[in-house]
Amino acid sequence: MCGIIGFTGSHHVQDILLNGLQRLEYRGYDSAGIAYFRDDSNHISIRKTAGKVSDLRAVCDDDNESHCGIGHTRWATHGGVSTTNAHPHRVGRVALIHNGIIENYKELIAKYNLAPQLKSQTDTEVAAALINKKYDEFNDPKKALKAAVNEMEGAFAFCILFREDPGKIYAIRNVSPMVATFAENAGSFIASDLTAFLDFTKNYFVVPEYHLLTLSNDGIEMEDLEGNTVEPEYLTVDWDVDAAEKEGYAHYMLKEIHEQPSAIEKTIAPRIKDSLPDFSVDGIDDSLFENVSDITVIACGTALYAGMVGAQMIKNRFGIPVTCAVASEFRYERPVLNENSLVIVCSQSGETIDTLAALRLASEYTKKTLSIVNVKGSSIARESNYVLYTHAGPEIAVASTKAYTSQVAAFYLIAIKLGLVSGKASEPRAKEFIETLKTVPNMIKTMLGYEDRVAGLTKRMVNATDAFFIGRGLDYQIAMEGSLKLKEISYIHAEAYAAGELKHGTISLVEEGVPVIAIASQSNVYSKVISNIRETEARGAYVILISKDPEVTDPSICDVHFHIPDVPDEFTVFEVIVICQMLAYYTSTGKGIDPDKPRNLAKSVTVE
Ligand code: M6R
Repeated sequence: MCGIIGFTGSHHVQDILLNGLQRLEYRGYDSAGIAYFRDDSNHISIRKTAGKVSDLRAVCDDDNESHCGIGHTRWATHGGVSTTNAHPHRVGRVALIHNGIIENYKELIAKYNLAPQLKSQTDTEVAAALINKKYDEFNDPKKALKAAVNEMEGAFAFCILFREDPGKIYAIRNVSPMVATFAENAGSFIASDLTAFLDFTKNYFVVPEYHLLTLSNDGIEMEDLEGNTVEPEYLTVDWDVDAAEKEGYAHYMLKEIHEQPSAIEKTIAPRIKDSLPDFSVDGIDDSLFENVSDITVIACGTALYAGMVGAQMIKNRFGIPVTCAVASEFRYERPVLNENSLVIVCSQSGETIDTLAALRLASEYTKKTLSIVNVKGSSIARESNYVLYTHAGPEIAVASTKAYTSQVAAFYLIAIKLGLVSGKASEPRAKEFIETLKTVPNMIKTMLGYEDRVAGLTKRMVNATDAFFIGRGLDYQIAMEGSLKLKEISYIHAEAYAAGELKHGTISLVEEGVPVIAIASQSNVYSKVISNIRETEARGAYVILISKDPEVTDPSICDVHFHIPDVPDEFTVFEVIVICQMLAYYTSTGKGIDPDKPRNLAKSVTVE
């Protein structure tokens, strides 16, 4: 959360910072700000405001003489949404931006009597005051920074300007992500994520934790805390800057919904050989899947719901014990793992702090840690022993769509591999399954054809205050993701229920006109779920049914019916979820909400 960028080089810094912040805005949009040196002067100018990057543009003058600066877009943690709490924070001779949380900020205030210098309620300003204090003591930026971070507890990615050092940006991080690059044609960049500088180069390196970076027009120097020079390990991103643009779509979310066929293609194609799963491109051989006693899937939010679909498949098809864990809970529980436990960690960003902490804990028990990650080189990818990149391309909208379906596809490949290696799947059945998996992009294309019909429900949905998603078996797992999509971007209270569980309490909430999105795509429980749906319809619910039935005209079952093409039950997830995603999208836009930037949320959750 929070987007940070720094640039020093031959281009006008304001343009680079503002355009970069626009790309990073999905990480937080409570306030925005920049700080920069006027050329050859050691005066640091700051412009900041509560609101979005567009509001920041309005308070920036057209300054063409500055070539070094830092910028920030905030997701508020400590202190409310205000211009005073916006970054950058300046204390004395130091201006700083920060992503993360300094947990011991109160102790630091007391220890160094920093209170008189503080104007905001942020932990970040405490960090600025401490670094400034150390700078007064050492008169050397690097020594000051090292001494200051030595005393800080928590997560941080800092970019700092020191008044006596125009043209230079200093940076250091712990946990919170940061990538950097030197582009010959421009200069040195640092940012929370590479989309901020993708216009200039596709090469970047992940800033290692507790390494100190000095960025200048000539390049980037990196050293560890002992002062040893460390060479950056450059990576190359495999998608273009266009992939991070809206390309004519009204919102990133809509674009990403439409990108699902190609995203899934990119996830599965490199990993299918002779109609069987093959992870040799990932450097993963079958030994990872041998002698697996049990599986734990760990993730948050949508990634967790993708994991639940995968888990259902592994458990039901092959009888392998699988547990799904909410990462923020797992990290504080006693893990029941052994050296033969396979731990699958799933994360689009690869930076979700709870998932990362859970992975670290799990790694103490087993070496069989496998991550499903979208962002190359991210912390979770680097810290797990094996990684499958989904290759879905950048996902910018806060509401996750293409990441979900490509994660489910990755889980399906893993499931079949586990079945084969454990002897529980026959090769012909596995081949049949993989051949169907290859048709998923087409399934999704067919479902996208429902866009106008789904949009037609907007009028009905925008007035809802509550909505229920119900289903049984795999449909229940899909319902969870469907309800998360709707609630996070439309602000309608939405819950998912196992349809059979309604009568144990929740049905008392169903009254005239409440939307019930009923998913009935699983053959073994079809008639049961239809009975549960009738129970809600009988109480006045407005039922939107999604099923394989070619036609449902019985008004005692539903008000609206979406027919999904008849595919094997395990694959209906790819069809149903597209309807749920579009329903959430059109409800959100129908209410005048920006679905790419729902309130209180940020794309990458790098604080606890
Ligand atoms: O980057 P991750 O996949 O680890 O993110 C996990 C969740 O924060 C994320 O899926 C969140 O729930 C989305 N906003 C859902 O649309």
